[in-house]
Amino acid sequence: MSGRARIGVLISGRGSNMVSLIEAAQAPDYPAEIVLVASNRPDAPGLARAAAAGLATEAVDHRAHPDRAAFERALDAALRRHGVEFLVLAGFMRVLTPWFVEAWAGRMLNIHPSLLPLFRGTHTHAQALAAGVRLHGCTVHFVVPELDAGPIVAQAAVPVLPGDDEDSLSARVLVQEHRLYPAALALVASGRARLEGGRVMFAEGCGTADGALVAPALP
Ligand code: GRF
Repeated sequence: MSGRARIGVLISGRGSNMVSLIEAAQAPDYPAEIVLVASNRPDAPGLARAAAAGLATEAVDHRAHPDRAAFERALDAALRRHGVEFLVLAGFMRVLTPWFVEAWAGRMLNIHPSLLPLFRGTHTHAQALAAGVRLHGCTVHFVVPELDAGPIVAQAAVPVLPGDDEDSLSARVLVQEHRLYPAALALVASGRARLEGGRVMFAEGCGTADGALVAPALP
């Protein structure tokens, strides 16, 4: 991408990841600008937050369309009207059809609250607790037609602590989501991370983690 990439953010709910992206994009050297926040739920609290931040918003209510295809055509038209070049899903709770995913192939990121490929789908924190993993986290990935299965851009891990429940674990992961998503979008928007043959390749000097998270801490 050249210049500041024109980003559309898709939400369905509270939009805390959207807020972290809006805040990051306020930096003059951030390689992307958010030109639209759209939601399939007109009452999504995140839409009001986006409007309050001075951003353009669109509600494309899925219930107002006879089927998924009609909803997606309306959504696609709204995105194009606003000149969106790249899509970021941030708590967008509609499954997208292959038609829509192909239309935005290589130009659509999602954040998923687990260390993929573990715990696809919903209730990821409950899944992690049930599995007894000691490390959990979040993943930013390109969107492909198969749910939660696209090429991975970035991941952040957190410990699962004794006594954790879904609320405490999801809160710990969410803190990392808010750091990871703006950073991953910047990598992609600047061209320092790019898709090549179904994998994400990094420019030299980026993409190296600076340490290991080990849980429980080792002596
Ligand atoms: C986040 O946990 C995200 O990983 C998942 O949905 C949640 C959205 O939260 N896809 P928010 O609307 O960004 O606060």
